[in-house]
Amino acid sequence: LIAHFQPKLLAGRRVLITAGPTFEAIDPVRGITNLSSGKMGFAIARAAQEAGAQVTLVAGPVHLPTPRHVARIDVQSARQMFDAVLPAADGHDVFIATAAVADWRPAAENAHKIKKDGKKVAPTFELTENPDILASVAALPAGRRPWCVGFAAESQDLARHAREKLVRKNVPLVVGNLGPATFGQDHNTLLLVDARGERELPHGPKLTLARRLVQEIAERLAATPG
Ligand code: CTP
Ligand code: CA
Repeated sequence: LIAHFQPKLLAGRRVLITAGPTFEAIDPVRGITNLSSGKMGFAIARAAQEAGAQVTLVAGPVHLPTPRHVARIDVQSARQMFDAVLPAADGHDVFIATAAVADWRPAAENAHKIKKDGKKVAPTFELTENPDILASVAALPAGRRPWCVGFAAESQDLARHAREKLVRKNVPLVVGNLGPATFGQDHNTLLLVDARGERELPHGPKLTLARRLVQEIAERLAATPG
């Protein structure tokens, strides 16, 4: 009965989330992508919606159902994800960047399939850097900038890399996880890194971790002036 009268933790908040990988086309039939199932981001979208938030989910190519009452925008490339997120960021209170964004894309996209055509030498590709979506949102002027959460998927030295990203991207919270063992799985372990220190959310189902993370974010948000 008491729980019934407690306001939801993110009631009235608008939360923007990126999830999944991006896909950078080389030609019409092939491209470069990252390993990411999107499960953690989708679980966070669901948990934020359950906590009362109005949720916008910008998803790269994944095979997952849209959580209930979540507004979903599907994109392929990092630039499309950037174009969907940047104009929307201003209207949201929180931005959670879980997407595994491709850092580079082919500098030139071929309009037609590259053929072997009996060539003896394999083709080489020049790459160019993609825009950093999280850093761009975090650099918006105060008042137009949502409270930003970054993710750091690393294969080693998790705490050090996560803290380095906290500083470099200028965001108040970075959530680290070690891969690739957890990628695509239903369980994970998260390390929360912020100015106060580190806190581990122990191994568990991604939805359980998502709900705990949403609590952590809501508490920090409530303690942030403005
Ligand atoms: N990110 C982003 N746009 C990019 C690259 C990363 O929004 N072009 C976000 C990710 O969604 C994640 C955070 O930035 O929340 C950290 O991503 P990560 O790939 O770990 O950081 P990088 O700065 O790309 O560093 P590196 O890949 O060299 O570790
Ligand atoms: Ca990267």
